[in-house]
Amino acid sequence: MCGIVGVVCDENCQDYIFEGLKLVQYRGYDSVGICQKNGEQLKIDKTKGLIDKLITKTTPLPGAKVAIGHTRWATHGAVSEENAHPIEGKNKEWVVVHNGIIENYQQLMCDLQKEGEVFKTQTDTEAIALLLSLNNFDSPIKNMIWAIKHLKGSYAICAVKKQEENCIYAAKYKSPLYAFCNDEIAMLASDPICFPEGDYYKLEDGELCVAKKGNIVFYNMRGEEIQKTKQRFQKIRAMADKGDYQHFMLKEIYETPEALKRVAKNFLNVDFGAIKKLKFKNVKLIGCGTAYHSCLMGAAYFRKYLKIDAEAIFASELRYDDYVIGPHTLCIFISQSGETADTIAALEKAKAKKAKIISFTNVPYSTIASLSQIVLPISAGPEIAVASTKAYSCQVAGLYLLTQALKSEKHFYKAIKQVSELAQTTEKFFVNMADFAQDIAQKQKIYFIGKGSDYITALEAALKLKEISYINCWALPAGELKHGTLSLIESKTPVIVISTNKSVHEKVMNSALEAKSRGAKLYLISYKPPQICELENFEFCLSLPKAPQPLLCILAILPMQLLSYNVSLIKGYDPDKPRNLAKSVTVE
Ligand code: F6R
Repeated sequence: MCGIVGVVCDENCQDYIFEGLKLVQYRGYDSVGICQKNGEQLKIDKTKGLIDKLITKTTPLPGAKVAIGHTRWATHGAVSEENAHPIEGKNKEWVVVHNGIIENYQQLMCDLQKEGEVFKTQTDTEAIALLLSLNNFDSPIKNMIWAIKHLKGSYAICAVKKQEENCIYAAKYKSPLYAFCNDEIAMLASDPICFPEGDYYKLEDGELCVAKKGNIVFYNMRGEEIQKTKQRFQKIRAMADKGDYQHFMLKEIYETPEALKRVAKNFLNVDFGAIKKLKFKNVKLIGCGTAYHSCLMGAAYFRKYLKIDAEAIFASELRYDDYVIGPHTLCIFISQSGETADTIAALEKAKAKKAKIISFTNVPYSTIASLSQIVLPISAGPEIAVASTKAYSCQVAGLYLLTQALKSEKHFYKAIKQVSELAQTTEKFFVNMADFAQDIAQKQKIYFIGKGSDYITALEAALKLKEISYINCWALPAGELKHGTLSLIESKTPVIVISTNKSVHEKVMNSALEAKSRGAKLYLISYKPPQICELENFEFCLSLPKAPQPLLCILAILPMQLLSYNVSLIKGYDPDKPRNLAKSVTVE
């Protein structure tokens, strides 16, 4: 994954890099580095950890007019200072930052070692830096083309050459790269949010460029100059401010009501006629992680309200499995970032099978949006914390609205009203989960159970808690406990029970009590307060405010998000930046 930024300007180029790296940190944050260049002088600073540490460590290189920077999510080689980028080739002739994975790296390493090259890091990126240094072509862009012809996999590369004037050489294949220039500055970045206001260029696969101040020249793989048109700037993922909140995650949970209102408003502008015209017979909803949980919820809505054969598929599974997809399949790809590599690959596969493609994304200029026939807006606003919260609620609300719109105009307008009212209900439903969190934070393992849509909420609640508290969490359909997992229930094992559906409430309670009989401690999130006689079964009970049944799942996940946040704090972790993860997963 990783985020890259490059700049060519007259002064303070390191500041542009630091500012840009903060904005692409959602792509990875285990280590970070910068290379400043003034003529043939190169200064590389890198460190494990976050950007502020790099800022403290880095002194400006006087007169530097070029810099490249990188924030890493390790794929090859441990998280260490030496493996942090920028990575230098032989004699620092070329210095490179790279986002992506070089799949034939082992082979390249053997070949390069046979040529006498010595690897100083464990990274695949070093192969690129060494390849660049191998030849002395009359133009550095030829070195770039020659080097990348040897690469298999994905890459966005920014490179500087010691003996060349102040410019950056860049190339892109299957990892995003954008370019910007005006009279004062030229920039390259993994995300256009790093750029000043103004239009920008999106590099396509197989394109390269040379960026100089005031001028960017683009090339194809044959080394021919190509003309590109600029894209409109839609700055939606601006670096939101934490305001008075301690963390982005908390702020984003609290932004759920506003975000839901935006979903209702923006869905009024969706052209559902165009979706109906797609003429599909079955629906696949595809995503990863939290977005996959929205897919599960959406598939349930399609089955329930439209009686259409619908299923949710993990994007990473669709890539390699034999799902039956064809011209009559509507594939809905859900992705907050719009850049998730598995989802993009699944989309490309579905496209090749001539499926109808809709994407549902929070980033209108994203790769996933650009590959789709129709784009639905998640409308959550910037989501910075790694754990997805408000985007999930918006995805679920949007999928409900979509199915109602496809059912009838009357159903759609009723649903718009329901979502707007739900937004108001959520405003008053930020429950204090601190005590519950104290109890949960002591546990080694936690089970979540529910039936139907509550099982999906259980999955999402378990994912949220495990990703930021590092507690082993497992969700399962209530009725499945007795088919194996019950053997893991011991004295005081916590089981969080989610029940929002009156028609199966008693069934869920039965499963919960089966766990209690084996020693479990039960915690209940329910659509109704427990009866007095039931109270003694539960350590904690939370009843949800009134809302239409299909939207109760959005209310049920809110306290679970707050619980996860609180547990993470109690355990002394940073809920915004959990270990080993990144916000946007742009590698397979
Ligand atoms: C969990 C989380 C991840 C993402 C997943 C897909 O809180 O955020 O599971 O949901 O990586 O990301 P997007 O939606 O950007 O495709």
